[in-house]
Amino acid sequence: MKNILVTGGCGFIGSNFVRYWLSEHDSNIVILDKLTYAGRRENLQDLWQDPRLTLVVGDIVDQELVRRTCRDHHVDLIVNFAAETHVDQSILGPLVFTDTNVRGTHVLLEVARELGLRLHHISTDEVYGHIPDGHQSVETDPLSPRSPYAASKAAADQLVQAYHITYGMPVTITRGANNVGPYQYPEKAVPLFSTNAILGEPIPVYGDGLQMRDYAHVHDHCTGIEAALLHGRPGEVYNVGTGREMTNLEMVDIVLATLGKGRDLVRHVTDRPGHDRRYSMNVDKLRALGWHPRFDPREAVAEAARWYAENRAWWEPIRSGEFRAYYDRQYAERLAGAGQDA
Ligand code: NAD
Ligand code: DAU
Repeated sequence: MKNILVTGGCGFIGSNFVRYWLSEHDSNIVILDKLTYAGRRENLQDLWQDPRLTLVVGDIVDQELVRRTCRDHHVDLIVNFAAETHVDQSILGPLVFTDTNVRGTHVLLEVARELGLRLHHISTDEVYGHIPDGHQSVETDPLSPRSPYAASKAAADQLVQAYHITYGMPVTITRGANNVGPYQYPEKAVPLFSTNAILGEPIPVYGDGLQMRDYAHVHDHCTGIEAALLHGRPGEVYNVGTGREMTNLEMVDIVLATLGKGRDLVRHVTDRPGHDRRYSMNVDKLRALGWHPRFDPREAVAEAARWYAENRAWWEPIRSGEFRAYYDRQYAERLAGAGQDA
């Protein structure tokens, strides 16, 4: 793990991982990132002077570029964060999710196979689909994705596992719960709700708001990936989360209380099609490697909300730019027909 290719390293989790890894390890990192709307150089503004860090702007689907980047930088490990990641965007325009999440991962596997590299793939709890009460997903559960995003992630997982079985390649997978923390693009619920609350704008809660998510701090996801890289067994999958869920309305209450705002901002809007009601993962397998989460989900949400209150300079330019067109498309009609919370 001397020279690491981190794909999607300018996004939310990728940039937090790069910052964390460089603070703990003496590795060189080359980031390959297409810089989509979610990938932002400024997420690593304080680190571009570090001689151990290089940025290559490009697409993981471009096999020749991936091969050349790995050769030029003597890469021995690929950590794949690059993806289209927003469920609502996958409902509005799904094809790019197949291009990046499925074909992109496949290209990385092919280059890793050709050059004899290790590959770690970042997956999600969404591949397990909706989880009924009383069950927590374990790594051997069947995959049952229900959105175009989740289906593309599940396809990528299965390709990664197939390359281990067929070619004996040294691959590992981590499946993360909903992450919160610094530098999360404000289309996702916690940064969207935090920034709307700060601006005094309505908070669009899908349906009854009783869907359940494990809101885990991105720091704990980064240390979970580190544990899988350092101690994980080739071919294995590891769930990463806190193992505890809350409803979206509980999450909203933490955001509002942290920011000193009231429930009057909440609007119940038309639900997301195919909205998964509950995700819940058992994380014992990763704990057995010596990892444990530092943050309780309630603290994670509160700390994230505080970060948005203290870092307006990061998100204000995003919200006034291309984000606005997406926001209007996704929410204008929903908010016009919204119901207020009691
Ligand atoms: P993000 O949307 O914030 O960042 C994605 C990054 O990938 C961006 O920098 C983007 O520019 C880059 N990218 C997109 N398409 C690319 C392409 N074709 N080639 C190169 N780069 C490309 O995403 P995130 O929330 O940081 O998620 C990172 C990974 O973690 C994803 O694989 C996602 O599925 C997974 N994940 C996310 C969460 C979460 O809660 N955010 C939870 C579990 C797993
Ligand atoms: O679970 C891991 C996944 O978490 C990752 O794989 C995805 O990349 C990431 O986007 C996230 O997916 P979700 O759909 O769970 O996250 P999102 O932040 O979009 O929504 C969280 C919950 O809040 C979900 O139940 C939908 C709800 N929600 C979301 C938005 C954007 C609302 O009620 N209103 C909203 O406006």
